[in-house]
Amino acid sequence: MTTRPDQYAVMGNPIAHSKSPRIHALFAAQTGQRLEYRAILVEPGGFAAAARAFRDAGGKGLNVTVPFKQDAWVFADLLSVRAERAGAVNTLIFEPGGVRGDNTDGPGLMRDLTVNHGYRLAGQRVLLLGAGGAARGVLQPLLMEKPAQLVIANRTASKALELALRFGDLGRVSGCGFAELAGRQFDLIINATSAGLENVVPPLPDDVLAADGWCYDLTYGSEPTVFVRWGREHGAARSLDGLGNAGGAGGGSVPAVARNLAGDRTRDRGLAGWVRFSWLAYGMNNRAAAAGLLAKYRCRYEAVSRPRR
Ligand code: ATR
Repeated sequence: MTTRPDQYAVMGNPIAHSKSPRIHALFAAQTGQRLEYRAILVEPGGFAAAARAFRDAGGKGLNVTVPFKQDAWVFADLLSVRAERAGAVNTLIFEPGGVRGDNTDGPGLMRDLTVNHGYRLAGQRVLLLGAGGAARGVLQPLLMEKPAQLVIANRTASKALELALRFGDLGRVSGCGFAELAGRQFDLIINATSAGLENVVPPLPDDVLAADGWCYDLTYGSEPTVFVRWGREHGAARSLDGLGNAGGAGGGSVPAVARNLAGDRTRDRGLAGWVRFSWLAYGMNNRAAAAGLLAKYRCRYEAVSRPRR
């Protein structure tokens, strides 16, 4: 008798652009997992009902993307320490004892930026655009690298200020609206807004990127995103999109799939080659080694979980 493959999905709005189903299928094939992973479009306000329906139908876990990361945080029964701090969840795992919530956005970004691209954050002036679920997930690991300063700028300035207060014990972080960026310069600008979905870039001063500065868009698309193009047009030494951390957003929900092992260096060879390269890049050139790594991630997740209520 064949059992039904484990069911996973990513929920968001929009969701059609997501590469998570392909990435997970490839990881699963390489680790011998039987799973089905779908992309599910959820209407605004409908997250909790959709997540509950997925779980009740036997779903094992979910990834969560814009605009539902804060809804997912509310939905979880158990939170990892980093998810609790972020106030946002991108990964839900359904277990008999309750729903576990984690946030792998930060590790995904940090690995892509520092390992794949060799960027050193220490001492840099960093500008984070946005104060929603995506921004919340990356603040802690960014501050842990000790940038000279981290400024959060948001369309709704009060949300940026609130977030700066929430993370103020971890380093030099402040919040403001876009207008207050006039006359300031940054070595790294990270776009954590969802403005790109409307094909716009937040209103930034033309000289806000320092000479040789880098731009990083947490989102990605089949074409360079509008923010990646903005970076190129404004002289960025590197202007990167978030495809290299897509496994970070996706990998964590599937215990058997190591998170964000993928780098974007081999994108040209196609996604299959790209994932295989990532295994090799991390020394994961055989299934046993991969299984060890997967177990390690799983344990670390267990270790940081704690009850919220
Ligand atoms: P995500 O999970 O991607 O962070 P979110 O929680 O809905 O999604 O947050 C979206 C972020 O993008 C917010 O910071 C939002 O700004 P507001 O807090 O002012 O709403 C920002 N954003 C969305 N559309 C934008 C636009 N057109 N220009 C600038 N910022 C925008």
